[in-house]
Amino acid sequence: MKVAVLGAAGGIGQSLSLLLKTRLPPGFSLALYDIAPMIPGVAVDLGHIPTDVDVIGYAGSDPSPALVGADIVIIPAGVARKPGMDRSDLFKFNATVIQTLIERCAHCCPKAMIGIITNPVNSTVPIAAEVLMREGVYDPRKLFGVTSLDVIRAETFAARAMKARAGSLTVPVIGGHSGTTILPLFSQVVGQHFSLAELAALTSHVQEAGTEVVNAKAGSGSATLAMAQAALRFCLSLVHARQGEPGIIEYAYVEGGSPHARFFAQAVRLGPEGVEEVLDYGHISPEEQERLEKMLPTLRSEIALGVEFVRQQTLD
Ligand code: NAI
Repeated sequence: MKVAVLGAAGGIGQSLSLLLKTRLPPGFSLALYDIAPMIPGVAVDLGHIPTDVDVIGYAGSDPSPALVGADIVIIPAGVARKPGMDRSDLFKFNATVIQTLIERCAHCCPKAMIGIITNPVNSTVPIAAEVLMREGVYDPRKLFGVTSLDVIRAETFAARAMKARAGSLTVPVIGGHSGTTILPLFSQVVGQHFSLAELAALTSHVQEAGTEVVNAKAGSGSATLAMAQAALRFCLSLVHARQGEPGIIEYAYVEGGSPHARFFAQAVRLGPEGVEEVLDYGHISPEEQERLEKMLPTLRSEIALGVEFVRQQTLD
């Protein structure tokens, strides 16, 4: 099986590639692509780690050699936030990056499962869907916005607040991946007795966690390491599902299955061909319901921005 990482020379890309080199099953191949000329060197560097995962790096303007035969494509290519920016400020540059890369995916690996990390995820995933649709190869079961960083953050913060063992809790996070569209459902955490004030504080901590990292890195980038770990978890779930392992559940931003918006992050059951079932998020508290209703116009307009970006070009 072949996994391709596009944007592999960046902060997320390099960290994720390292994790994949050490965690993918033996016999897998890892194709790294970036416009940065250093990427063959990243592959040589990783190649010195003794695992049975082949790594090849491809630089230049054409990602095709990295994509041919790929089963899974993970995309962290593009620019990241600096202090004072929100994710929508990245749209102008990253929209074109995603459009170009997805066009190549449509030609080189139309049946691959694609996970998009590049922000603003709420809009870049709709761009990818529209491009794949235009190219006649769109299968909504195989396109994912990677929102697993929100999930690991929510789980970390909840465990800390409850003095539980790190990694021992499950916290659903639904909606989208920007500001208030990120909706953690702390009311569903087993054994929690949070007050309303604690719930509100935990929720805004998850929603603002990306900005916390951007500010703490003082202008040199956004979350890369925890993101790489979250993307590893997501990618390994795709791998295991592809290999036929049953009962694999992940949170991701996908099309279909939600009455709220065309794209919505929620739990999905994965199978060899991608999403097998979008799972209902169940009972939520009145406060969470209010937050959900308040954020939906933002989510829908960020989706429309991505859709329009592609449709406008088709009309031009
Ligand atoms: P970075 O700037 O360190 O790396 C980006 C890489 O993309 C660079 O190596 C650059 O050369 C490459 N690149 C740019 N245009 C390209 C193209 N057309 N084709 C191939 N490669 C290209 O950025 P970082 O920190 O790795 O972040 C990447 C993206 O991930 C950003 O958009 C960031 O906002 C997003 N992100 C998403 C998160 C999520 O939860 N989904 C969390 C954190 C960041």
